[in-house]
Amino acid sequence: MRMRKKRHLEPRMQACADVLLARGKPCKNLKEAAENYRFLLDYRTVFGNDGPVELEIGCGNGGFLLEKAGREPETNFLAVELCTNVILTAMERTKAAGLKNIRFLNIPAEILECYIPPHSVGVIYLNFSTPLPEKSREKQRLTSSRFLKIYDILLKKGGRIEQKTDSVEFFEYSLARFAEAGFTVVDVTCDLHNSSYAAENIVTEYEANFAAKGLPIYRAVAVKEGSPAKKETSTEIHHVV
Ligand SMILES: C[S@@+](CC[C@H](N)C(=O)[O-])C[C@H]1O[C@@H](n2cnc3c(N)ncnc32)[C@H](O)[C@@H]1O
Repeated sequence: MRMRKKRHLEPRMQACADVLLARGKPCKNLKEAAENYRFLLDYRTVFGNDGPVELEIGCGNGGFLLEKAGREPETNFLAVELCTNVILTAMERTKAAGLKNIRFLNIPAEILECYIPPHSVGVIYLNFSTPLPEKSREKQRLTSSRFLKIYDILLKKGGRIEQKTDSVEFFEYSLARFAEAGFTVVDVTCDLHNSSYAAENIVTEYEANFAAKGLPIYRAVAVKEGSPAKKETSTEIHHVV
């Protein structure tokens, strides 16, 4: 079912222009845009400082980043979300909270390279990305090899991807793709809320719904080559908690 367009969407988007860095596609063809269009962000101009930059893809209503940005005021956060209706809520909440360290891109993740300078991001958060189990939609999964190639370009040496999901199939798929793409998988848990990572975990909107239904939450970190000492963990997910 299609979500109904929010009331007064355009004037409300306009009111959030100061936190919105990009919207839509620069041209119809996504592949062409990803290859040819460049409007790289200057972080110093955007955030007014040289702090580290982290990125959430598919930020939804923004609950995760609002909490994260409040806890870590020295870090700058970029939030990417395809759906305008949804990102509007996240932007309005950010402004209401007075947070200065979050900016938004209302774009498909397929064209991240158009805006984000290579090797400039320390962490990419993938919180409850849509699993898209249909074989025909594999390329659209946010942990497919196509996206991992993009993340590899955006991440700094030693940077990492942090993934959480409720879908064991999607989790297994992602762990295999991370390893295949040369990432080192660490900190794997098949029951995040009952693990040693629970204390620092920020529960997202989707996560709260899944947890309320008693579903386990899977979480892993995929570290790009050149990381400082981090313990490697088996990707045999049934062995670890
Ligand atoms: C299942 S929701 C999860 C929202 C939030 N992260 C949470 O945990 O509550 C996934 C979000 O990812 C967004 N999304 C899916 N594919 C995307 C893409 N290629 N680029 C940007 N956003 C995408 C969707 O619009 C949706 O809001």
